[in-house]
Amino acid sequence: MADMSADLTVVVLAAGEGKRLKGARPKVLTPLWGRPSVCWPVDAALALEPGRVVVVGGPQQDELRRALGGRPVTLVSQERPEGTGAAVLTARAALPSASGPLLVLYGDCPLVERGLLERLVAAHRSSGAMLTVLTMRLPDPHGYGRIVRDAQGAVAAIVEERDADAATAAIDEVNTGVWVLQCPQALEDLTGIGRRNAQGEVYLTDLVQLARTRGRPVAALVCDDAEQVLGFNDQADLAQVRAVLRRRLLARHMAAGVEIVDPATTYIDADVLIEPGARILPCTVIEGACRIAAGCEVGPFAHLREGTVLRAGAEVGNFTETKQTELGEGAKAKHLSYLGNCTVGARANIGAGTITANYDGRAKHATVVGERAFVGSGTVLVAPVTVEAGATTGAGAVVTRQSVVKAGETWVGVPARPLRKPESP
Ligand code: UD1
Ligand code: CA
Repeated sequence: MADMSADLTVVVLAAGEGKRLKGARPKVLTPLWGRPSVCWPVDAALALEPGRVVVVGGPQQDELRRALGGRPVTLVSQERPEGTGAAVLTARAALPSASGPLLVLYGDCPLVERGLLERLVAAHRSSGAMLTVLTMRLPDPHGYGRIVRDAQGAVAAIVEERDADAATAAIDEVNTGVWVLQCPQALEDLTGIGRRNAQGEVYLTDLVQLARTRGRPVAALVCDDAEQVLGFNDQADLAQVRAVLRRRLLARHMAAGVEIVDPATTYIDADVLIEPGARILPCTVIEGACRIAAGCEVGPFAHLREGTVLRAGAEVGNFTETKQTELGEGAKAKHLSYLGNCTVGARANIGAGTITANYDGRAKHATVVGERAFVGSGTVLVAPVTVEAGATTGAGAVVTRQSVVKAGETWVGVPARPLRKPESP
C-alpha cells in the first residue's frame, strides 16, 4: 500500500483564526484530549504514508511547530487568513513539482480516520476527475457550504451559508471540506479564483464552478459516516467533537481489556497508556502521558495528571490527585490526597489526606516514600523530603523540608520528630 501513496500529497489547513470560538488561542491549537486539534488530522494523514504532508499555519509559527511535536511535516505560513483557497495556494509554494493527487484536510476537522481517506483517494484515482469532493448529508446543515447538484446529479457548485438564498440554504447535502485535487492542473486553476462572496475571501469551494466552466470533471463521494467529518466553529461544535473523540478513546481501551465501569463519567486523554486488566471507576479524569499497569484500580473521583505512573496493582482512590508521580507495585493512595513530584515504593500506604507540599512558590521539589512505608492520615510532606522504606509518620505529622524519616522510624507531630521509644526498665 505504501508505494501506492508515494505520489500523494496532503495539505492540512490550519491558519484560520477561529473567531467564532471567541477564545484566546488559535482554533487549531485547541486541546482535544491532550492533543491540539491540528494534530488529529495530521496523524490521520501520516497514517496514509503519503509522499508529503504540508501544514498551512498562520504567521505565528512557533506555537504551531511546538504543537506538532516531531511530526514529519512541512510547515508553511499564510500571512493573512484570506480563505481556504488562498491557504491551499500558500501550500503550493512548498510543492513546486507536485503531480498526482493532493488531499486537503482542515485543522478544525479532527475526526477523520485513515480508512475514509483511503476510500476517497481511491475513488478519486479511479474516476480520473480533476477534483473529488467528499460530501455528507446532515439533518441540520447549519454552518456548512451547501452542495448544489445539476439535473444530472453532478456537483455544479458549492455555496457557503453566508452566500446562500433560502432555497440553497435548505439543501441538506454539505461540503465536508475533505477534497482531493489533481495536481498540477487543479492548483493552476485555483489561481483563477476571485473573491466575490460575503467575506471577500478566496474560497476553495469556488474551484468547483471554475473547473466546470473549463470542462474539467468534478467527482463527489457521499460520506456515510458524518461523525468523521464534523468540524468545529463554535463552542457547541467543539463540545460535540470532543464527545466523539472521547467515546472513541474509551472504546479503544475497553476493546483492549481495560475495565471502565462508567464511560459516561470517565475522561482519558489520548496519550494515556493503560494495560488490560486495570479498572477505572466512575468520575475519573486521566490527563497527559500517564501509564497505568495491569491490576491497578483508579477512582472513583480520581484525577491523574501528566507524568503519573502506576505500577502493577497500585490503587488511587477518591479525591486523590497525582502529578509527575509514580506509585510502585501494590502501593495505595486511596483517599483525599495530593501527590506531586513523588515516588512511592512498592506496597507503601499513603494515608487519607496526605499532601505533598511540593511547590515553594519558585520550584517543584521531590518527595520519596520507600517500600512499605506507612504515611499516616493527614501527613504533610514538605518537599524535598524522604520517608524511607518501612518508616511511619503519625496522623497529622508535618514532615519539614530536607527531613529524612529513617527506615523503621516513626515520626510524629508538628514539626515532625522521631517518636522516642519508651525506655526499657
Ligand atoms: C469550510 C468550507 C465549507 C465547509 C466547511 C466544512 C470554504 C470556503 N468553506 O467552511 O464549504 O462546509 O469548511 O467544515 O472552504 N483556514 C486557513 N486559512 C484561511 C482560512 C481558513 O488555513 O485563510 C483553515 C482554518 O484554520 C480551518 C479550515 O481552513 O481549519 C476551514 O476554515 P473555516 O473558516 O473554519 O471554514 P468554514 O467556514 O468552516
Ligand atoms: Ca470550519
